[in-house]
Amino acid sequence: MPRVTSYSLRSASPAKTRADAVVVGVVASDKGPRLCDAAEDVSKAHGRRLGAFLSTMGVTGKAGEAVKAPTRDEVNAPLLVFVGLGPDPADPIAVRRAAGVAARSVPNAASVALALPSETPELVAAVVEGHRLGSYAFTAYKSSRSETTEPADVVVLTPIARRSEATDALARAEVLADAVALTRDWVNTPPRDCTPPLLADLVTKAHKEVTKGRGAPKVKLEVFDHEQLAEMGCGGILSVGSSSAAPPRLVRLSYAPRGAKAHLALIGKGVTFDSGGLTIKPSSSMLHMKGDMAGAASVVAATLAIARLGLPLRVTTYAPMAENMVSGTATRPGDVITMHGGTTVEIANTDAEGRMLLGDALSMAVGDEPDVVVDIATLTGHMQLALGDKVGAVMGTDDEVAAVLAAGVAAGEQHWRMPIPEEMKERISSSKVADLLQHDWVRWGGGLYASAFLREFTGGLPWAHLDIAGKEINTGAPYGHVPSGATGFGVTTLVELARSMAG
Ligand code: BES
Ligand code: ZN
Ligand code: MN
Repeated sequence: MPRVTSYSLRSASPAKTRADAVVVGVVASDKGPRLCDAAEDVSKAHGRRLGAFLSTMGVTGKAGEAVKAPTRDEVNAPLLVFVGLGPDPADPIAVRRAAGVAARSVPNAASVALALPSETPELVAAVVEGHRLGSYAFTAYKSSRSETTEPADVVVLTPIARRSEATDALARAEVLADAVALTRDWVNTPPRDCTPPLLADLVTKAHKEVTKGRGAPKVKLEVFDHEQLAEMGCGGILSVGSSSAAPPRLVRLSYAPRGAKAHLALIGKGVTFDSGGLTIKPSSSMLHMKGDMAGAASVVAATLAIARLGLPLRVTTYAPMAENMVSGTATRPGDVITMHGGTTVEIANTDAEGRMLLGDALSMAVGDEPDVVVDIATLTGHMQLALGDKVGAVMGTDDEVAAVLAAGVAAGEQHWRMPIPEEMKERISSSKVADLLQHDWVRWGGGLYASAFLREFTGGLPWAHLDIAGKEINTGAPYGHVPSGATGFGVTTLVELARSMAG
């Protein structure tokens, strides 16, 4: 993760600050646009002409808006960028988005000062997070790097710059943004360069970076190869991986700080490419399937972030990785697979591969006797169809679903509860040859069926399942702090969940 931008806090006047550009937050009120409190002296510098000036420039303050205006000598910086906050300048979600929009609007400035709402540590964090995530660019495969949007120096203008709560908030925000950027990098990486062994190598490298040096957090890393997976009885992971020339892997991370309040198990789907297998996908559905390892990426990145933040919570993380391909050794519809723990599963559709990886990993995680189990996966197109590309689905036991929803609110991500209806139990149990039927070719409620299937491997523990299919890659234009391409959706919700469990 090369990070060139350095962030600092200063309680200075935006009008007097020297920078290539000063970003100014604009609130949309009933009486028209007004500058946020942090930009008060920019208002003063313009005096009574401000209203007419904003209206001529077409500034309304609505969310997503960015209007650039060269200055004369009313302020020290040569460029002002007015970014819309919407009606509520105290809402961290609005502030995070506006900071992201600001980052994209000044791609060529070496230094930027941000006069956005930042009166509380929470808002300072939202500004930093939003700006860093909005300036994210994946340039590893571009021969020309001219598209960079990351300035060298970003100064957050805040009245609480010298308070330790504010500097702590800045540090926290950078850890969170690192985690989201790491997830995005891995999801954006082409599938040829992100096979299970290569993804495990990327995890090993990231783990080393976080745990090296004095004072670094202690996180144990284990990488199991296909032979070890066979010894461990992980038939689900192997059944998917047998289709590919690149063998499967399982990564386990363990973070066990002294004074841990509880034990959280995280499990993430790591299908490094999903062709569908013999039940092959239509071409257009295969296009974005390099992102099918987003769950694995996000649990690893979240775990490293939790450790860097030093949260007093034990976390054991499983990232099963396999590539779902078409070959003479691929699993067939009709095959019966023995999962970790001994449950047998009849395969009906090799494109329902995620549940096979997760079943094994859930069963292993349950063996560690955690207090709470959370899995995250790009599991079903059904949930994408139901909830669109910005809202994730959550299913599971009541308290854990509630905890995930609350964490999502704190993180600024939207999740929505879906049920696991009673009749799903019958559907998943309808195999004539095995304990469970992997898929029944009934189209209705396919995401709920998948959840009922996963539940069989949770040992009755408190559990939440996040189906983020379609949220992992933004196929449209950038918005707020979310670029085109990989989004990192889910990472901040997982870290917030850990924070709430750590008390
Ligand atoms: N990886 C896909 C789900 C997916 C869909 C992710 C769209 C991202 C965007 C998953 O493995 C899959 O193929 N699911 C099937 C499930 C079905 C066979 C029950 C699907 O969505 O059709
Ligand atoms: Zn898949
Ligand atoms: Mn699939």
